[in-house]
Amino acid sequence: MADTGFKAGLEDVVALTSDLCFIDGKEGRLVYRGYDAVDLAEHATFEEVVFLLWHGSLPDAKTLLAFQQELADNRTLNPSVSGLISWIPKNTPPMDVLRTAVSMAGVYDPDADSMDRAANHRKAVRLVAQIPTMMAAYERSRNGQDVIAPDPDLPLAENFLWMLTGKRPLAQHAKALDTSLILHADHELNASTFSARVTAATLSDIYSAITSAVGTLKGPLHGGANEQVMRMVDDIGTLDNVQSWLDQAFEAKRKIMGFGHRVYKTDDPRAVVLRRISQEMSKSEGNMDVFERLEAIAAYVGDQKHLHANVDFYSGSLYRMMGIPIDMFTPVFAMSRIAGWTAHVLEQYDDNRLIRPRAEYTGPTHLTVKPVDQR
Ligand code: ACO
Repeated sequence: MADTGFKAGLEDVVALTSDLCFIDGKEGRLVYRGYDAVDLAEHATFEEVVFLLWHGSLPDAKTLLAFQQELADNRTLNPSVSGLISWIPKNTPPMDVLRTAVSMAGVYDPDADSMDRAANHRKAVRLVAQIPTMMAAYERSRNGQDVIAPDPDLPLAENFLWMLTGKRPLAQHAKALDTSLILHADHELNASTFSARVTAATLSDIYSAITSAVGTLKGPLHGGANEQVMRMVDDIGTLDNVQSWLDQAFEAKRKIMGFGHRVYKTDDPRAVVLRRISQEMSKSEGNMDVFERLEAIAAYVGDQKHLHANVDFYSGSLYRMMGIPIDMFTPVFAMSRIAGWTAHVLEQYDDNRLIRPRAEYTGPTHLTVKPVDQR
């Protein structure tokens, strides 16, 4: 058969050009629009990073103030979307609620009928602003608690924790969540972003593109891994149990969640920062149990399988200390990655070509149809 250049899983295939995000998988560097994500995590806020991804430069103080205000002013959900969140079955996984709520928000968006650039930017603002409100509302509603209205005076990360828990979060927690949101904001052509761009490239609307992306992020090989890591840590239970638990998983050829990456062949720079924050927060909490278990898992998997921890490995430990339940971890990822998804969709619309690859056909080619009674 002629060489079609087929690569399983599209590994290392360059599918498009983009100005948004660069990953150096050998050096372990992640760059948004020229800035190192670790530098941004230390010196910028999530709102500044959203602006950077959309507009290509960091905002000055006045522009930032106006942008923060615009995001804060758009946090309230359409009553029909709030209604959906209140009546959807309480055992629905939060990622399914998010996928449904995002799709429904598209129906009620005041710019639903417009594909012009300014309208698409306004829709992107609403998506970034409202995903935290959707998720906090669902968490409160499924627990029979009153839904808390967004506080326009709080930054996005802090406001999410407020709406979720009904308590003003510790400064350390608000800062840690903001940092985590920055580190998850974009990651080149990861699976969910690719989904979003494929949908946008048909000139379908931005809500359809983001609905595709949410569905893709949900899978345990992608964003869903952060939830599975914490379930593994709980299942392992004690430090003594780490090696035997992992040996059994290796024996059964099960993948260890939170390890390995298609692009990074060294430390994932996001995991390095999240590890440090997890350690600091655990110290502040006065409880190192989970962190120590994570460290023991990372050491043993590194030693036995030569795999590095990825972004999903430490994030859950932070989220749990903030009072976020395990099945909300992947929605928190979406709350951040919506920045990158929308930036990619806007970039796709600006210079669009339908994304339509080929398949290498491996089936028969010359069968003939027998009448049904002779098959
Ligand atoms: N545990 C055990 N073995 C692993 C792991 C892992 N986490 N990751 C990779 N390997 C092994 C595979 O079994 C395979 O071994 P083999 O060649 O002997 O069969 C080899 O390493 C290559 O793995 P692939 O799955 O082919 O690598 P791919 O690039 O397709 O997948 C992925 C990357 C999906 C991230 C993979 O490493 C994985 O499944 N990790 C666990 C899930 C996870 O943490 N996902 C989050 C990724 S980050 C993100 O999406 C935000």
